[in-house]
Amino acid sequence: MKKEISKILRKPLKKIGLKLEREEIEKYVEIPPSPDLGDFAFPCFAIANRLKENPHDIAIRIREKIKRVPYIFEEISVVGPYINFYLNRKIIFYELLKEILKRREKFGKSNLGKRKTIVVEFSSPNIARRFGIGHIRSTIIGNAIANLCKFQGFTVKRINYLGDWGTQFGKLILGYKKFGKPEKFKKDPISHLQEIYVKVNKNKKYLEEAKKEFKKLEEGDRENLVLWRLFRDVSLKEFEKTYKLLGIEFDEIASESEANKLVNKVIEELKEKKIAKKSKGALVVHLKKYGLGTAIIKKSDDTTIYCTRDLAEAIRRYRKFKFEKMIYEVGQEQTLHFKQLFKILEMMGYEWAKRCIHISHGLYLGKDGKKFSTRKGKTAHLEEIIEECKKYAKAEIKKRFPNLKEEEVERRGLKVALAAIFYGDLKNHRMRNIIFDIERFTSFDGNTGPYILYTYARASSILKNTKAKTKLEKIESLDENEIQILKLLEIFPERARKAFEELDPSIVANYVYELCKKFNEFYHACRVLGSEKESLRLAIVEAFRQVTRNACKILGIQLLDEM
Ligand code: ARG
Repeated sequence: MKKEISKILRKPLKKIGLKLEREEIEKYVEIPPSPDLGDFAFPCFAIANRLKENPHDIAIRIREKIKRVPYIFEEISVVGPYINFYLNRKIIFYELLKEILKRREKFGKSNLGKRKTIVVEFSSPNIARRFGIGHIRSTIIGNAIANLCKFQGFTVKRINYLGDWGTQFGKLILGYKKFGKPEKFKKDPISHLQEIYVKVNKNKKYLEEAKKEFKKLEEGDRENLVLWRLFRDVSLKEFEKTYKLLGIEFDEIASESEANKLVNKVIEELKEKKIAKKSKGALVVHLKKYGLGTAIIKKSDDTTIYCTRDLAEAIRRYRKFKFEKMIYEVGQEQTLHFKQLFKILEMMGYEWAKRCIHISHGLYLGKDGKKFSTRKGKTAHLEEIIEECKKYAKAEIKKRFPNLKEEEVERRGLKVALAAIFYGDLKNHRMRNIIFDIERFTSFDGNTGPYILYTYARASSILKNTKAKTKLEKIESLDENEIQILKLLEIFPERARKAFEELDPSIVANYVYELCKKFNEFYHACRVLGSEKESLRLAIVEAFRQVTRNACKILGIQLLDEM
């Protein structure tokens, strides 16, 4: 709209003696603090200096030179030093509703990223461990960020990079050989492996032995490989269940073990380019002059490490995807690691290293402000968190619908629980620590996921009870409640763009909440069915549903038609 205004103003400005580019005019255009001063305003004092004239007089002269007021404006008038522009809302909102109902799930999308690829790595759990709380945030936020990129038209490659290689597997293999119990393993493999891991870690004397086991694994020892593969398979099965439950998909399951097959070439390259140096038997890259310490590439026992594998993996991904950008969503404790990684890639001469970004997130905290744990005081795992949220959600659902079939309570309970977790996370800026208060998260009122679901279901129920067609007719009049919600619907594309630019899904999350609040106000104030404005209001309800769906799709939140 600012563009339209600059178009209108250019000629008149020229006529009174000031030649300005459209972009400059656009920069001056403001949104007035109160709607009775118009939807947009051009402040003439901004140019008064150059014209050496009183701003009010300038405003009047410019206004006189505007001969034809385009139909999207109802009025253009002068107040003090301002030229105020009043939109013709009836026309604009009619066009908006038509656009939303025509473009549907495409409404708000752009093609900014046409023919460009963004790689988003997220989740990346470690095998032989439960899916812990640290990886939940990466999964929820990374998924939303991948969706934000997709919404702007980028080709997005979602990668899950499994932690399945490294000295800890020496410990596990050793542990399994010493304390492994096949029956226990069969019953609950991950718990048993975790138990074993703790046992091995308790005793320092196992450390040397564990290193040897890992070395054997790296050298391809049959027995160790079989064990390792077993641990990997059971873990993957667990993870797959988790992702299915969360409704999250990946384009590629990469892994440290696969990356490890590519490390020798990287090491050669680092030596050749004289980037890596020998130091006390190890191979290192000195990064002190960048304030990044020293990165180890190969340990003195000749085994490779995390950083080496990440180098190889990044190069592989660039070769395969020729990405415009690569985003890693990983906890903040790895900030130094990623800085080192990107710096070394840059030193190797890869220009795309500058287009790699590490984004991270804060912690989940308990109500007491300490690290989050379950009631039993142990660190929490995803299944337990979902179960606990579900308990609250189901109780609430049963209260509202005492006669609902148990099966349906279960189905809705799960959706509500997931919405509570996803939304409870995403409504905050990702860097903030989050007080994980399950009771608050699952509440149907307030700024919560269930509130969004509830509002959406409410809107759906209006449409369900009607046979009236949502045929939009020209808008005759607009009430304040209608204007409020239409104004918000209008800015969805902008908000989605901003969220992408700042890689900040909370912008979309808070937008949906605003939208739902406005919808509820509208719902209470305006009768839809049977009203003389039925056609307009039905269209608003439908447009609200569509935009809510589009926004929730970005957030990874699944909606319910009934609640
Ligand atoms: N598996 C690692 C961990 O849980 C995270 C991997 C992050 N990604 C990467 N490319 N290094 O700590």
